Amino acid sequence: LKDERIAGIASAIRVIPDFPKPGIMFQDITTLLLDPKAFKDTIDLFVERYKDKNISVVAGIEARGFIFGPPIALAIGAKFVPMRKPKKLPGEVISEEYSLEYGTDKMEMHVGAVQAGERALVVDDLIATGGTLTAAIRLLERVGVEVFECACVIELPELKGRERLGDKPLFVLVS
Ligand code: PRP
Repeated sequence: LKDERIAGIASAIRVIPDFPKPGIMFQDITTLLLDPKAFKDTIDLFVERYKDKNISVVAGIEARGFIFGPPIALAIGAKFVPMRKPKKLPGEVISEEYSLEYGTDKMEMHVGAVQAGERALVVDDLIATGGTLTAAIRLLERVGVEVFECACVIELPELKGRERLGDKPLFVLVS
């Protein structure tokens, strides 16, 4: 994506080496949130792309998809649906297991939050291996929702998460 706003967004993201463990370069978006221009530019770039695309659902992934998803949903006139870690949602849920580097994790969504035939955008701060986004896509597709695209602020291309998504489109601001 060519846009003069991208450089400001990229430079507002702080990289913290060796967090949460040695060898990981943690991409910290909390510094982006401290910069109102860069934060607004981030939301605006997504809104410009997704307005008038008939998207009725923005599905945000815990935890940082809960920061970027809701302002996008409000601006495009869609509902916001949280995709949560296990045992957080109080109502009836459907869940999807996915593999991590060691072991597995689970993602849950409320039954009835979305209807078959709706069109969704999946939002998170970052794609690494793509396992998290893949689980979110599966959850939505299992109940008959069309996933239009996945949108992340940051992609770590060396982890090839994009390949794991197969032919599902992925849009990122900073690679
Ligand atoms: C991070 C990030 C994505 C996920 C991406 O979340 O915010 O949700 O990892 O990794 P993947 O592409 O390899 O699946 P994290 O596991 O740190 O959880 P948190 O947001 O609840 O802290």
